[in-house]
Amino acid sequence: MPDRTPCVGGNWKMNTRAADAGALAKSVADGAASVPGVEVILFPPAIYLQEVAGTLSGSSVALGGQDASEQSDGAWTGQISAGMLRDVGCTHLLVGHSERRHGLGEQDALLNAKLHAGLEAGLDVMLCIGETLQERQADRTADVVVEQVQADLANVPMEALSSLTIAYEPVWAIGTGLTASPEDAQAVHALVRQTVGSLYDGTSASAMRILYGGSVKPGNAADLFAQADIDGGLIGGASLDAEQFQAIVEAAGQSCCRS
Ligand code: 13P
Repeated sequence: MPDRTPCVGGNWKMNTRAADAGALAKSVADGAASVPGVEVILFPPAIYLQEVAGTLSGSSVALGGQDASEQSDGAWTGQISAGMLRDVGCTHLLVGHSERRHGLGEQDALLNAKLHAGLEAGLDVMLCIGETLQERQADRTADVVVEQVQADLANVPMEALSSLTIAYEPVWAIGTGLTASPEDAQAVHALVRQTVGSLYDGTSASAMRILYGGSVKPGNAADLFAQADIDGGLIGGASLDAEQFQAIVEAAGQSCCRS
């Protein structure tokens, strides 16, 4: 059974200015150097990617885009292609964040196209999935996450799975201070892994990293990451504070090397 390297992503969303982005990235890189068993990825706003790429150069911290067009280069005003992200030093791409699904109306077919565009450009893709509060209250969590995994991974070949991470982010937990209990989150992660197993095979499913996101803080990270199928976190608010983010990276380091 493969070991899964724990991973912590910092999704800065639409925050920072050039000067703070560089300083924050520098602090994250310095901190990550002391936790070598964790893969750390920063997702700054697109306009600061080059700034942050310069700061992270030579460090162990990877760089990702928060979004990319499903199109390749061409007449698409205002869009950024996955190839452009590669060009400025990104190795990763977020797809399907709830703020794009629910705030901007992105549907599974579009997200599947973006996922393919990212993989084709040579980026590792972090696919975000998760149910809304309404869906949870209607007891539809399992159906929603299974449908999202199936639709968003359509036509993704098994060989591409090593370039894919899934982030389970219950929408009601994002930026609200509410977190899924470690047990509830674990149950969904196990279901996601089982779904990947039924779409592909057990080996691919057990190798797939599945991160939790939604109000992860230094105080709850260790309990979440101790769960068998939670392989790290995708962090919003706490990723804007270098000390808090570092504490979360360290919590992931302590949960290392499961299979
Ligand atoms: P918060 O950590 O602020 O809840 O955000 C989570 C998130 O959306 C990460 O992508």
